[in-house]
Amino acid sequence: MFYTGIASRFTGILRLCSLLLVMAGIASSVLAQSSSGAEAQLNINVTQIISPVSPTLYGLMTEEINHSYDGGLYAEMIQNRAFHANWEGTPPWDLVRRGNAVASRSFDKSTGPSEALPYSMKLTVASASDGNEAGLSNPGYWGYGLRPNTTYSGSLYAREDADIGPLTVEMINNATGSVEAQAQVAVKPGPWARYEYKLTTAAISPSTANHLEFTVSHPGAIWFQLVSLTPPTFNNRPNGNRPDLMNRMAAMHPKFLRLPGGNYLEGMTVEDRFDWKKTIGPLLDRPGHQGPWFYWSTDGLGLLEFLEWCEDLNVEPVLAVYAGYSLGGTHVATGKDLEPYVQSALDEVEYVTGDASTQWGAERARDGHPAPFPLHSIEIGNEDYLDKSGSYPGRYAQFAEALHKRYPQYKLIATDGNSEYETKVHPDISDEHYYKSPADMMDLVHRYDKESRSGPKIFVGEWATRSGTPTPNFGDALGDAAWMTSMERNSDLIIMASYAPLLVNVSPGAMQWPTDLIGFDAGTTYASPSYWAQSLFAAHLGDGTAESSISGANQRFFYSSTVSSKEKVLHLKLVNASSVDQPLSLSLTGINGAHTATLISLHGATFAATNSINAPEAIHPVELAVSIADSHWTHTVPALTIEVIDLPF
Ligand code: AHR
Repeated sequence: MFYTGIASRFTGILRLCSLLLVMAGIASSVLAQSSSGAEAQLNINVTQIISPVSPTLYGLMTEEINHSYDGGLYAEMIQNRAFHANWEGTPPWDLVRRGNAVASRSFDKSTGPSEALPYSMKLTVASASDGNEAGLSNPGYWGYGLRPNTTYSGSLYAREDADIGPLTVEMINNATGSVEAQAQVAVKPGPWARYEYKLTTAAISPSTANHLEFTVSHPGAIWFQLVSLTPPTFNNRPNGNRPDLMNRMAAMHPKFLRLPGGNYLEGMTVEDRFDWKKTIGPLLDRPGHQGPWFYWSTDGLGLLEFLEWCEDLNVEPVLAVYAGYSLGGTHVATGKDLEPYVQSALDEVEYVTGDASTQWGAERARDGHPAPFPLHSIEIGNEDYLDKSGSYPGRYAQFAEALHKRYPQYKLIATDGNSEYETKVHPDISDEHYYKSPADMMDLVHRYDKESRSGPKIFVGEWATRSGTPTPNFGDALGDAAWMTSMERNSDLIIMASYAPLLVNVSPGAMQWPTDLIGFDAGTTYASPSYWAQSLFAAHLGDGTAESSISGANQRFFYSSTVSSKEKVLHLKLVNASSVDQPLSLSLTGINGAHTATLISLHGATFAATNSINAPEAIHPVELAVSIADSHWTHTVPALTIEVIDLPF
């Protein structure tokens, strides 16, 4: 199938590499480079657990940025399916006039199939015949990812006053002009109606350089709206997600999804906030809205789809509610003005968690999901420290009072991002964001070691080491891994963390924000070095931090020593971001006798080394078995290397 096998591929790569390395008898020290630093002493005592590791430490955060949803995760293949118009017209739709066809297209504000979509695209054909067809074409989101022997499901709303003959839908290869799949739709004269079609490919080679054409071969007029085409989706959900991207996320072992953003929650203006009530129900009733990242959002991936995405990945939503501040700098005054927004947040929580006897729980049931979703925490706003008016404490208090009163069971998250507001706001959890260069991220590693434990818990709701573009390079992966050792060590305080942004469509012009974890185009995805580091850390998290000490290591060496207490495994993460090898003498208290450890290594030749859509596996994890004779182990971590070691005890 189109996207299958991505998750199992990671395991496959590891197994294969493991096998090869073990068969060849390669020990970790052989991987070490010649230039070596002084030996460091690392002591770990697995019988002394000094602090708990939060089971919810690692989660996901995305938003509509870099075409993460439209043109990304959301499986819709047709770009601007609802003919949203701007100063350029209705890009990227174009007119098709084959041979001698005479036709024009116009944006028609006077007719559409619904209140939310009261406009349409009118195709007027003065002259057309077989071989001289007229119609509309759509390039997709930088192409259409086609796979062999695959059926794509299409639908559209159309209206015509007089019969214009059948509508032909063709998927056409841009380079050769060959028709890769074709269908006919028998549109009938009359008012707006919904039609369906299927496109099925034969045994073609996978490709992305394709476009779609809708043509007629008779004169007349036809109006179009909500023209859709989707590939098979994850779990076969109608209106669902791309399986390859879902598999990538699943392989990160996330525990939550922070939704719906980011700046996407706030919008540039109050009007352009994520107004969740306009994102639910039939697609025909969703007007879409202007996102803050400079493009229109269809809202096909609306609140219910966010929640179903959580369900599909078996993670919990961390629901961020709009709190009256928008990125352009406007805020809603506390008191009467803010009340409707507070009510909207209360309704939103009811839509997520209420049973079918509640007003919004019933609405969710009508939308196709009778069962409530789990929820434990609600975030009030996003990055409200940017609101220079200082209105956040008041707005937070108004939301918090109402939410606490109605839903005392949920933890509330403030978005101060630093301690400035904490004394005024008193949240359960504080959301702090870090975007840093590799050097600065490494310098942040001890930020929380001495932080007071008496304040709110910390949610690092957005973080990333940023230098690579479009996706993190190996230097970023080292910064990220260093930072993760810090979050794990301080996970009694840092209870949740989510890298951001998660997704980027790497096609030219699709990206707004460089350094995003997972790259993709219309056909495939790839994992950045940071993606591998994060997946490995999350897959070997543990539930407690073992007592440890280190001396003599280079300044760019970082580690985390957690244990899974039930399974009796030490998870040792070693990060050598320096350009010289780091020899270690390990003293392991509580680990006696001979053991075989599993060592997974991620190495880059330079900070700039990276993966890309054309070289997706240049950097990837390599697994090998390591024999450890007793509680003393001499081991060298090669330069520019991240290691995750599982040592049973
Ligand atoms: O992740 C990109 C942006 O960074 C988010 O939208 C915003 O919250 C932060 O400033």
